[in-house]
Amino acid sequence: MRSHWCGQISSAEVGQAVQLCGWVEYYRDHGGVIFFDLRDYTGRVQIVSDPERTPASYPVAQQLRLESVVQIAGTVSQRPTGSENPRLPTGALEIYATELVVLNPVTRPLPFLPSGGDPVREELRLKYRYLTIRGDKLQQNLRLRHQVVQSIRRYLEDRLGFLEVETPMLTRSTPEGARDYLVPSRIYPGQWYALPQSPQLFKQLLMVGGCDRYYQIVRCFRDEDLRADRQPEFTQLDVELSFTSIPEMLRINEELVCHVFYKIKGIELTAPFPRLTYQQAMEWYGTDRPDTRFDLKLVNVSDVLADSGFRVFREAVQNGGLVKILPVPGGNEKISNVRIKPGGDLFKLVTEAGGKGLAYIRVREGFELDTIGAIKEHLTEAQKQAILERTHAQPGDLLLFGAGPAHLVNKSLDHLRQYLGRELDLIDPQAVSLLWVVDFPLVEWNPEQQRYEALHHPFTAPHPDDLGHLETARALAYDLVWNGTEIGGGSLRNYQRSTQEKIFNLIGLSPAEYEEKFGFLLEALEYGAPPHGGIAYGLDRWVMLLAGEDSIREVMAFPKTQQARDLLTDAPAAVLPEQLKELHVRMASPRKLSELPKPHE
Ligand code: AMO
Repeated sequence: MRSHWCGQISSAEVGQAVQLCGWVEYYRDHGGVIFFDLRDYTGRVQIVSDPERTPASYPVAQQLRLESVVQIAGTVSQRPTGSENPRLPTGALEIYATELVVLNPVTRPLPFLPSGGDPVREELRLKYRYLTIRGDKLQQNLRLRHQVVQSIRRYLEDRLGFLEVETPMLTRSTPEGARDYLVPSRIYPGQWYALPQSPQLFKQLLMVGGCDRYYQIVRCFRDEDLRADRQPEFTQLDVELSFTSIPEMLRINEELVCHVFYKIKGIELTAPFPRLTYQQAMEWYGTDRPDTRFDLKLVNVSDVLADSGFRVFREAVQNGGLVKILPVPGGNEKISNVRIKPGGDLFKLVTEAGGKGLAYIRVREGFELDTIGAIKEHLTEAQKQAILERTHAQPGDLLLFGAGPAHLVNKSLDHLRQYLGRELDLIDPQAVSLLWVVDFPLVEWNPEQQRYEALHHPFTAPHPDDLGHLETARALAYDLVWNGTEIGGGSLRNYQRSTQEKIFNLIGLSPAEYEEKFGFLLEALEYGAPPHGGIAYGLDRWVMLLAGEDSIREVMAFPKTQQARDLLTDAPAAVLPEQLKELHVRMASPRKLSELPKPHE
């Protein structure tokens, strides 16, 4: 139907007869001469129809509607001098349409124009996703995503000999910390499949099966609270290797990341990437996924203020918590008291993250410390000196204090740090910060359930030096963090039954429970399981960062809303009572179909 792509018409085609197909864009009638742009995924080119020069196409052109699908034939010509459009690659050219066929007209008012500059409500962009996809941004992002996948496949398969193996979607629940999406079985009343939260156990079994180097670009499903970087179904680049070590795992993965970066961005990253222990990351940044594109670091002053006369500080430390400072260089000028006090934006940010309040000290000329109320009265000379030394504060700097339980102090100062990093323009948009966080704790205490739970997942191996005290052991786990987003995480695994059983015991599973849930894995570990380890990347997050987007929705063709709805097909939706019956499922409070909530309620 066509001889060329719209966006690829160039001066080389001037004088040539071409045939093009695409969508009508930017239609205008200039006193009897009709101009429009014809667009396909490669770009657009100007089409002209004129009652004298192109009488056959003119009556059709008069009836055209934006976004109708048309086919044109004509000869490429140079635009008259002065009428070129420097913003278009084809802007010096135009085609007088000798023939114009409407292949399919738009017959309803468009909810929005795919390439219109006006902002469109997110619900509309999701409901009419095909129109959003037709626009330049999604076109670019989906093609970028494809290139990323292509370069990953080329690297892993051609250079490193990885084998892609597909794993089941209808399976048993794999614990990755989220709720499962469940699928009822028709054949086995009362039994359910779970959609995989990740292919974790299957990839381990592939290692037992001798596959040696496995990867898969695979869909995963997690029923959890959604955010900009979380979707209920998302894609992992999932990797597992046999006979590997942490240094080899990190090296191979650094090579892969550098390769993709170079292919996509033309940027040569330096490897090895920095490695930060979990403890160090929490100490300096209050988070295990620090954005190190800017240099603000938290300073722990719990020991200095343990016996402070200021009750808030003293009690925080006495109760096993922390007092930490976020020093803001030059902050005195940039941040007013109003913003730090109740009602201010910084105060609000801290309290929303669970912090109790936001104490502060301003370092004045001559290293005088200036603050208000109780802190000032109770600060001894020795404490002042220690604070100045530890923070390396200079006159003009602002010291923001967090005090209380460790996790709340860390969380609130992390939020504050990120906010100020953006607000004070401390982040170089071109900078790339990639780092490994290693030495995660194997387990953490869950006070609600009164049991330990695996920080990564229960198949992660403990550090061999820590086998005598598993409750406080480090894990052989690693996360890759990119500009403050966790893009991948993995570990070496328990490949011996005895160690795996110890971990199950540690997290409170009885032998009967773990036999019932994971008996197949434990058995496999006894039939010659090689030492192995792996990693999984959030592919959507990876592409989001490469595309410079703020949400993974922008790099997915058909994402769901924050409320996990698919607005395009209106899923989830009610099903017929017969279907439920066949699946042996009955609703707790049966309602007629007509009484079910409408999709948007
Ligand atoms: P983990 O649970 O850390 O590890 O997941 C790996 C990576 O997947 C991405 N990710 C998500 N992306 C979008 N939406 C979500 N809801 C979502 N949840 C996770 C993150 C994360 O780093 N089986 C292990 C890996 C292993 O040990 O090999 C696993 O799934 O970028």
